[in-house]
Amino acid sequence: MAFMSKLFLYVLIAILGLWPSKAQSRTLHEAPTMLEKHEQWMSQFGRVYANETEKQTRFAIFKSNLEYIESVNRDGSKPYRLGLNAFADLTNEEFRTTRTGYKPSFHSKSSVRTSPFRYENISEIPPSMDWRQKGAVTPIKYQGNCGCCWAFSAVAAVEGIHQLSTGSLTSLSEQELVDCVADNYGCKGGWMDTAFKYIIQNNGLTTEDNYPYLAVDGTCDAGKASSPAATITGYEDVPANSESALLNAVAKQPVSVALEGSGKDFQFYSSGVFMGECGTELTHAVTVVGYGIGEDGTKYWLIKNSWGTTWGEEGYMRIAREIDAAEGLCGIAKKASYPTAA
Ligand SMILES: *[C@@H]1O[C@H](CO)[C@@H](O)[C@H](O)[C@H]1NC(C)=O
Ligand SMILES: *[C@@H]1O[C@H](CO)[C@@H](O)[C@H](O)[C@H]1NC(C)=O
Repeated sequence: MAFMSKLFLYVLIAILGLWPSKAQSRTLHEAPTMLEKHEQWMSQFGRVYANETEKQTRFAIFKSNLEYIESVNRDGSKPYRLGLNAFADLTNEEFRTTRTGYKPSFHSKSSVRTSPFRYENISEIPPSMDWRQKGAVTPIKYQGNCGCCWAFSAVAAVEGIHQLSTGSLTSLSEQELVDCVADNYGCKGGWMDTAFKYIIQNNGLTTEDNYPYLAVDGTCDAGKASSPAATITGYEDVPANSESALLNAVAKQPVSVALEGSGKDFQFYSSGVFMGECGTELTHAVTVVGYGIGEDGTKYWLIKNSWGTTWGEEGYMRIAREIDAAEGLCGIAKKASYPTAA
């Protein structure tokens, strides 16, 4: 009797597919190999290589980048985390030459300019600010393989002041700046103040829709450039090396800044308040669209980048604010400026 019921149980288990060895073999899975991780990443980011040699070269770079990312995250001593993003198969050298684009040699020349600073004496500075919540920031854009961060930085600042002065948020054209600002170098780099100067002289900047972004240098389309959608009346530099002056300005509008945005931790930043090691050699341009204080009391700037939404916190970075050095972390307070509108 006991034997029969035991047999019955075994049969039942077998029928239901609950046989222990079967269940075990189903849950036994191995962690993906480095090669599989590379394949996964390639399909996630739509990456295709020309041939097997190229793929092997890129795999070696990917592997070394992923090992670095995992070692920083495992270490856990930093308040920010790194992650795989669109730059995972680029060496840091390739990354800095093709994905940034601020011309550092210019700042000595341009700092000769003494401009008024209209926010010098503002009295009310809120403890935090997020211009996205005020409807003054367009969605994150992607500069691609073109070193025109300066255009994205300038456009985000103009989109901001345009919304604040007119009430309407309009996505504006980086490509017009890349093609038409004769004093900059298009995909090979440039400066925001030069872009603001062009927008003033051209009586405005057209929309993204009218003059879409192509991520390559082109010739200026005068027809498209002659139908501006947003105008500015001037631009001013924030007094250099003062995070408190920068705070005054960002309390009032989104502000263009240059910083050293080319280190490995910057390349793979994923979340948290960035406090990575960086110098103050200005290589990249972004737009400060707010500031705040983290849960642990860390003060930060909120920056809008132009590296798509897979970089950082959906395309944004929180970077440490009010550090010991006057020039700010990564030199963020060295060369800030903003457009003005009537
Ligand atoms: C493989 O592709 C790379 C990159 O496009 C190219 O430079 C190289 O000459 C190619 N090699 C072969 C063997 O086709
Ligand atoms: C700020 O205040 C100082 C001292 O009163 C004054 O000299 C300066 O012109 C003011 N700046 C602005 C932009 O109003």
